[in-house]
Amino acid sequence: MEMTVSVNDNINGTLIIPMVEGTESIPDDCERGLPQSMKAQINKVLNDGDFKAKAKTTLSLVGGEDGKIILAGLGKGDSITVHDFRKAGAAVYGSIKKIHGNDFTVRFIDAGVAHMAAFAEGMMLRDYSYDNYKMKDDEEEDKATKQIRLACSEKEAGDLTSLVEKYQGVAKGVHLSRDLGNCPPNDMYPEEFADRAWEWAKQYDNVEVTIINYDQAIKAGMGGLVAVGKGSSRKPCMIIFEMNKDVKGKCPVLVGKGITFDTGGISLKPGAGMDEMKYDMGGSATVFGTMEALAQTGHKGKVVGITCMAENMPAANATRPGDVIKGLSGKTIEILNTDAEGRLVLSDGLWKAGEFNPEYIIDFATLTGACVVALGHEATGLWSNNDEFRTRIHDAGNAVDELAWPMPLLPAFEKEMTDSKIADTRNLGAGRYGGANTAAAFLKQFVPNVDYDKDGEQITWAHMDIAGTYWGAKSNTMVKNGATGVHVRTMHHLITQG
Ligand code: BES
Ligand code: ZN
Ligand code: ZN
Repeated sequence: MEMTVSVNDNINGTLIIPMVEGTESIPDDCERGLPQSMKAQINKVLNDGDFKAKAKTTLSLVGGEDGKIILAGLGKGDSITVHDFRKAGAAVYGSIKKIHGNDFTVRFIDAGVAHMAAFAEGMMLRDYSYDNYKMKDDEEEDKATKQIRLACSEKEAGDLTSLVEKYQGVAKGVHLSRDLGNCPPNDMYPEEFADRAWEWAKQYDNVEVTIINYDQAIKAGMGGLVAVGKGSSRKPCMIIFEMNKDVKGKCPVLVGKGITFDTGGISLKPGAGMDEMKYDMGGSATVFGTMEALAQTGHKGKVVGITCMAENMPAANATRPGDVIKGLSGKTIEILNTDAEGRLVLSDGLWKAGEFNPEYIIDFATLTGACVVALGHEATGLWSNNDEFRTRIHDAGNAVDELAWPMPLLPAFEKEMTDSKIADTRNLGAGRYGGANTAAAFLKQFVPNVDYDKDGEQITWAHMDIAGTYWGAKSNTMVKNGATGVHVRTMHHLITQG
């Protein structure tokens, strides 16, 4: 898709008109360049009640002599937000495929620049398909790039253009996260992810990628990462992304769980639905996607990303339930279930994060089925050791319509996770209940203090469990299917504006 902002009255190709519920006719200021026959057709449809403009609905009027039209519903007029515009834009883009032709003009009725840009953002986000593995279809026309013109006044053009450019950059980050998540696990393994990061960094002067390979991870004492990944022929690695490295001072550090396939290991998962465990690297894709969104939009601040990549396989040399390991932090962990592997790789990633002078650390992980039980596919679980910071992330999520719901970090859960007979900690709670909370409490033990000072204060940290939101969210209009790329937009907002 190519999107441009235009101040002239011409209608190129199919005309798209977003409208609120109850619109009875096309207002005068929307009529410029509109042939009489098209105007009459729209007004008839509206008068007859054949299109009510309910949220996320569209109506295509094709077959007329003077051109084609798509009416896009925004929902009820008195409560309309940028989120409704974004969803309407996505819904329209979803229906565009059925229309022949590649030129479209969007003309808004009395919408502010922020709302117009949100509609455009919805179109961009929905402009995604993962068809690398499908035979290409030979209809030439469908392959041509769609040209979308956003019509606006001269006064609006400058602001709208800069918002559109920003959203284009952020959408690239979301789509990168989705590409990584959707890639089948035979082709997406730790070193492949590392190669992609390495290649990606070459296009930017202000980004550096460092790969800590398997041998280096063993030498460095990354016992958690090694324990999870050693049973696979695809060896584990850790990847460090550094943006604007030379900028002085503290910076956000993002850490991602990157299990490129989670069989459960020796604590093998049941077969049904196991294919979905290719998405278990969603946390690392969120980190990589956020880096892309920031790089694309010319972010000038320092940001660090750390992704902990491993494939969790059963094997003769795999970690066993009962094994005790020691990770980067020096704490020992009794592994009671090899399927609780995300927290093990993250324990090293979180500890490593302390080296980068963090303003705060946020980790992303498809960590627990229990989080999906608690929140379904509607919200990410959000824990933090700092209430104010948790609220900031919650607010950033709300600002971009990616819900992150506050969850409790309680001493009782932490106690449950340190109650091992033979090690400092255990990777499994005492029972089934509160599984997402015990997982968060486990992670907290590996968040370093400022400067690793034994008696110092713990670094501000948040944990986001995206097990329910990284894929399978049917209510997410921005996504047709597969990986959602969730929280790239939240993080871009938090880091650049929050
Ligand atoms: N990757 C899974 C979590 C998961 C499950 C994400 C279902 C999305 C959908 C994770 O590694 C896992 O297996 N967690 C276990 C933890 C348990 C053994 C304490 C779980 O949730 O069952
Ligand atoms: Zn697992
Ligand atoms: Zn997992």
